[in-house]
Amino acid sequence: MDKFRITGGRPLSGRVTVSGAKNSALPCLAAAILTPETVTLHNVPYVRDCMTQRRLLEDLGATVLVPDLRTHKITAANIELFEAPYELVKTMRASVLALGPLVARFGKAKVSLPGGCAIGTRPIDLHLEALKLLGAQVSLESGNIVARAPQGGRLVGSDVTFPKVTVTGTENLLMAATLARGTTVLRNAAREPEVEDLADLLNRMGARVRGAGTDTITIEGVEALGGAEHTIIPDRIETGTFLVAAAITGGELEVKDCRPDHLGAVTGRLREAGVEIEEVNPTTLHARRSPKGLVARDVTTEPYPDFPTDMQAQYMALLTQAAGSARVTETIFENRFMHASEMQRMGASIRVESNSTAVVEGPTGLSGARVQASDLRASASLVLAGLAARGETVIERVYHIDRGYEKIEAKLRAVGADIERLRESVTAQLPPAETLTA
Ligand code: EPZ
Repeated sequence: MDKFRITGGRPLSGRVTVSGAKNSALPCLAAAILTPETVTLHNVPYVRDCMTQRRLLEDLGATVLVPDLRTHKITAANIELFEAPYELVKTMRASVLALGPLVARFGKAKVSLPGGCAIGTRPIDLHLEALKLLGAQVSLESGNIVARAPQGGRLVGSDVTFPKVTVTGTENLLMAATLARGTTVLRNAAREPEVEDLADLLNRMGARVRGAGTDTITIEGVEALGGAEHTIIPDRIETGTFLVAAAITGGELEVKDCRPDHLGAVTGRLREAGVEIEEVNPTTLHARRSPKGLVARDVTTEPYPDFPTDMQAQYMALLTQAAGSARVTETIFENRFMHASEMQRMGASIRVESNSTAVVEGPTGLSGARVQASDLRASASLVLAGLAARGETVIERVYHIDRGYEKIEAKLRAVGADIERLRESVTAQLPPAETLTA
């Protein structure tokens, strides 16, 4: 498994470009299942999770052409399999986004029940309860969710209130409702920009979605959807990660091709913590640490538009360099502090009080160490800590970071970071020489 080797202590400086949003590309790729015509997506990030979603589409029978690295042309004209198998779902939970489109267009779907992951159990009960309200029969058969539209026909529009905000739950139901008979209203819907981006694509395909981006989305079902062309929005979490990279290294970065309007809670909190952020233009931010230094500020993660859970680990890394004590409260996932113990091994002063609160004292000098990535955003926070640390940090299992960050080591090296990828060499797996001659 690949590793990163970082020699920290170098202020970053220069210009970095943000890639497309993984968490928009994943539902948009699944949306192509809703039509036999070609859906063309631009600005798809070159990350592992999108490759996995592409493989799922191809396993279902769709063709996916990739004329250039970040453009995907999906044609789901010959779907002959209606199943998202265990081996795919266990590597990427977002495969459950095939559920809504398959049931909506074909009246049936079988999706392996995703197991938990490092950050939590992550059930999909809210997806399933909502699909039942649209008339689907849902059963659990040897670890697979089997869903069928009534009498194998079409789903029926309904009024659905989510008891809890769920991003992919909202997206699954949004896609399912586009082909249902009648009107569906989704209440307490997720308001993330990625939900809005999906709705933009669906409307280009001929759907009738109103209110995406608010907590109430209304969908008038239509008979069929057509092809469309769409450009995925920039990744707001990658953007936030680079803003922190500038501040934690005492450097300054110009972050291009981003959407500052998707990042209000993050830039607001970072500014309060002593990060000087200037909106250069509607798609460019400039960030640096204030000459007065970083100051510790509490943070609580909440659904959009408040501070995103996907920025919690990166913000915790910044807090290790901020003066004072701050409380980090994680309200979305039950086990999202695994990065804390790895940062402690680098010298950070972090007290994890429960699975939802941790207190960080700073500033503390960090020193390089061998650390282990546990999940996507935790690994990003360890890269940030490594950039700020004195000496050498080796981060193991960087396949986690490859799931959601496109070529992060190349982007960081281009702005002055001393970071390299240590590929698991083939020779390392060969038996010792003496056995070869035996
Ligand atoms: C999406 O996950 C994102 N993934 C996550 O990003 C992100 O952290 C999360 O939303 C919260 O913003 C994608 O969009 C592909 P949820 P999702 O359903 O949809 C509970 C990353 O790093 N819940 O909004 O799976 C759930 O356990 C990833 O890019 C239920 O109880 O998250 C959690 O506590 C990590 N039952 C809370 O709701 C359900 O049926 C929010 O989960 C669904 C969710």
